[in-house]
Amino acid sequence: MTRTKEKIKKRSYSPFLINRKSIYGVLEIIFSELKNSIYKSLDKESSKEKKVLNYVKEKAIKNDPESVLKIIDDCGYNKFFLMNIGDHKGKILDDYVLESKAQKVLELGVYLGYSTIRIARNLSKNSHLYSIDANKDFLEIAQEHLEFSGLHDKVTFYNGKASEVIPRLNEKFDFVFIDHWKEAYLTDLKLLIENNCLNDGAIIFADNIVLFHLEDYLEFVRTNPIFESKFIPTLREYSSSHPDGIEVSYFRK
Ligand SMILES: C[S@@+](CC[C@H](N)C(=O)[O-])C[C@H]1O[C@@H](n2cnc3c(N)ncnc32)[C@H](O)[C@@H]1O
Repeated sequence: MTRTKEKIKKRSYSPFLINRKSIYGVLEIIFSELKNSIYKSLDKESSKEKKVLNYVKEKAIKNDPESVLKIIDDCGYNKFFLMNIGDHKGKILDDYVLESKAQKVLELGVYLGYSTIRIARNLSKNSHLYSIDANKDFLEIAQEHLEFSGLHDKVTFYNGKASEVIPRLNEKFDFVFIDHWKEAYLTDLKLLIENNCLNDGAIIFADNIVLFHLEDYLEFVRTNPIFESKFIPTLREYSSSHPDGIEVSYFRK
């Protein structure tokens, strides 16, 4: 696997110093989720997630992943808050996946399958994506999105908590995208190491580092000699003002 040309440094810089805006970012998400639960209780068949799937089926082009991503992004910008990685951070994810030339990719946290589509469409012929989500309803929608995009053969989905699925996987990965339960980032990364699931040089790409103040995770990847780690400042998905960030860590055996 090739490594990024940029110099990778362990940084003492804390991304959390600038963070009042990210609190507003979290409050906005909570408010949007409350609104969604009220709408859902009034109209049980139409969660915003099901509405997104319907928009995709109506407006996107079958077997065209870019058109599916575009419709989901349009929903995220103009209709409801969606916890996808989004187009800007998604482009960074695309670049790292392409650069890694990974054969086996693991995704923790699928939601509607937005990042699953982004990753799967950039995999080479013999590469495969293993995607885990604890929520069965979300996973069903994601499966339909992948089917619609023509990418379902590239992905194996697992329903369950990552901590329960990881020990059963019996695979070694070149790239791990972490974007599930924020409290579980560190414990599940440790589980991947303990279960010998990481190939030498594996890239661990962790989203929402600033938004959710994942300081224990950062401390671990920045001070442990088995990782070389760097921080990429970003904005939160579908926001033009709320700060967020990605931590990219290279695993060394
Ligand atoms: C931020 S969303 C994932 C977004 C997706 N990666 C994207 O960018 O399109 C987080 C997802 O993690 C799932 N999740 C939460 N805790 C989990 C756990 N312990 N194991 C697996 N999935 C979990 C939730 O059900 C939710 O769908």
